Amino acid sequence: MAEKQPFFYDITLRDGNQSLKKPWNTAEKEIIFNHLAELKVQGVEVGFAAASEMDYEACSHLARIAPDNIVISALARCVENDINKAAESIKDAAKKRIHTFIAMSPFNMQYVLNKTPEQVRNQAIEAVKYARKLMGQNGEVQFSVEHFGDCHENIDFVIDTLKEIVNAGANVINLPNTVERTRPKKFINLVEKVYNALPKDIIISVHNHNDLGMATAVTVESYFAGAIQLECALNGLGERAGNTNMYEVAVALHNSGVNVPLNLSKIYELALTVSDMSGVKIYEKAPLIGPDALAHRSGIHQDGAIKTKDMEKGAYRPIHPSLIGRKDDEKLGFTSQSGKTAIFEIITEAGYPITIMEAARIAPIAKETAEKIGELSTRNIIDIYNNNVLNVKGPFRLANVEKITHDNVKLNFFYNEKEFNIEISGNGPVDACIKAIQKAGFKCEFLNYEQKALNMGSDASAMSIMYFKTPSGQTIISRACDESTVQANIKAIFNGLNIIENLYNQKG
Ligand code: KIV
Ligand code: ZN
Repeated sequence: MAEKQPFFYDITLRDGNQSLKKPWNTAEKEIIFNHLAELKVQGVEVGFAAASEMDYEACSHLARIAPDNIVISALARCVENDINKAAESIKDAAKKRIHTFIAMSPFNMQYVLNKTPEQVRNQAIEAVKYARKLMGQNGEVQFSVEHFGDCHENIDFVIDTLKEIVNAGANVINLPNTVERTRPKKFINLVEKVYNALPKDIIISVHNHNDLGMATAVTVESYFAGAIQLECALNGLGERAGNTNMYEVAVALHNSGVNVPLNLSKIYELALTVSDMSGVKIYEKAPLIGPDALAHRSGIHQDGAIKTKDMEKGAYRPIHPSLIGRKDDEKLGFTSQSGKTAIFEIITEAGYPITIMEAARIAPIAKETAEKIGELSTRNIIDIYNNNVLNVKGPFRLANVEKITHDNVKLNFFYNEKEFNIEISGNGPVDACIKAIQKAGFKCEFLNYEQKALNMGSDASAMSIMYFKTPSGQTIISRACDESTVQANIKAIFNGLNIIENLYNQKG
């Protein structure tokens, strides 16, 4: 149904503001308003002019500075004084709208308003006629059926009344789920009924509260049911659990192929500003903007996330973070649920060389630590790397190596408790060392080695990388660091021996 572009009507400065512990003054509202203009929303409800002097002043000021292309609206109950104040406060806006409302749910009419449906109908019609008179033909009149979501039993009354309200001059009909109480579909059915009953040039709007956490879903589906105007708030601010979150609706529609007329790349920065200014923290898991919204901790998710990292669509994210101007990327946190991909990524990111096989080898050690202390820091993981990649524990223990000449070494080492002292010559110290180990009776199929100069800390300037063949024909890599290249080489050989021993001991 909805081929028309959505009309984003922001209610942060009214519904959002009235829910704050310290409502914003004019200067604060102006900051948010300027951001809304940059976000390119189509309409802004600037306040409830009759609520306080401060809000009246804010409405007037924002109406004065508003760009010509944004609809500026002020809220008013269906009473003359409110409507006068609303009209007066926004008179300087190029595109102005009075927004008047009254409850029509049976429960609210009886217990809150203490009015009969007939009295409510008359009050609403009179209010809209009056608002239209004040707005003239250039301004707009929006009427809201407060508690529309509770109007299942009397929907025929509501629709009949809305037809009269349209005749009285309203051109926008807003349908609030003032308190979200039940399933979305029940609300959408009501929206569809109103949409089908009213003339097609009337703008249907929805305004959903998030009491059960479904306001985004209700708003998105309402759009496809014919509601073109979507009332949303930045960071989902609003009474109680808040209003519909603007960012979630915008992104959900964008992902559904709808042409969303907003500057989406503003979202993330704006969310931080709004949180700062409202004192309402963004919770860890908040969709899209939460600090943890890009974190992956399970091994399977980490693997999928890394394999699709630079793609527009990610295995485990709804959007590429850059769509909403988020500069931080997906992040991998290592816990007892994580795996080798996270080790590999975290160590590589920290600037240390590692292979995926080495990461797989130390992942169980990291998991065991994480079981005890929870998510590991990068420092924790580097320590595990240092203690298990650069210093592999096992039955072989190098006690001392002495280079007698270039080709001659004296090697002192242990295999479990047994000590070996071997002096031997070879084609350079590495070859001599391998020969010493073989002479002691150990199999050691050495393939190759390479050296890297690097600076990984105060005590290391050389890294030696050794390649061995295991008895089953597998190639393994070992590495070690030292200030001296000879020491780095010999340590790497012993690390390699221990890796192979541990591998075969583990296999039994
Ligand atoms: O939640 C609500 O019903 C409202 C109306 C004033 C639109 O905020
Ligand atoms: Zn509301």
